[in-house]
Amino acid sequence: MGEPCLLLKAALVEQFNTHELLALIQDLEDTMRHMNGAGIAAPQIGVSLRVIIFGQKETDSSNNPRYPDADAVPYTVLINPVLTPIDSEMEDDWEGCLSVPGMRGIVPRYTRLHYTGFDQHGNKIDRLVSGFHARVVQHECDHLDGILYPMRISHLKDFGYSEVFFPNQDIQDE
Ligand code: NI
Repeated sequence: MGEPCLLLKAALVEQFNTHELLALIQDLEDTMRHMNGAGIAAPQIGVSLRVIIFGQKETDSSNNPRYPDADAVPYTVLINPVLTPIDSEMEDDWEGCLSVPGMRGIVPRYTRLHYTGFDQHGNKIDRLVSGFHARVVQHECDHLDGILYPMRISHLKDFGYSEVFFPNQDIQDE
């Protein structure tokens, strides 16, 4: 948090299947796995492009230790995403961010969402999602518009250190 790249509006990807794009996705995947993130956006590793990845591959045995209660979200590469809330219903829940290490906050997000975009090969992705899946997509897409989750917290009393809010959880270095 504080890096200028995290506050930019990221640029659209114009070409799929390039070496640069595939290498970027590998970097994102390596970083997300290493840090046990639920998702990650390209601006978080200093690349201002509209690329996010999130979720877990079926080969990953356990749930994400940072979000042990969350429903499984399929591993997804999502490029040039467009989000459309299905209705106005929102729900509050805890979030953390690899760019805001050691902190957690309660963030309101749309409960149900339609999203579209493309994978790294240019195949169209079109999904209706809800709950944690919808929350992760909203959090990661915010990174593409220069928004970090603390900017969306309704009450700053709901923002603080992970080890204070969750003293009994083995929260890893974020
Ligand atoms: Ni984040």
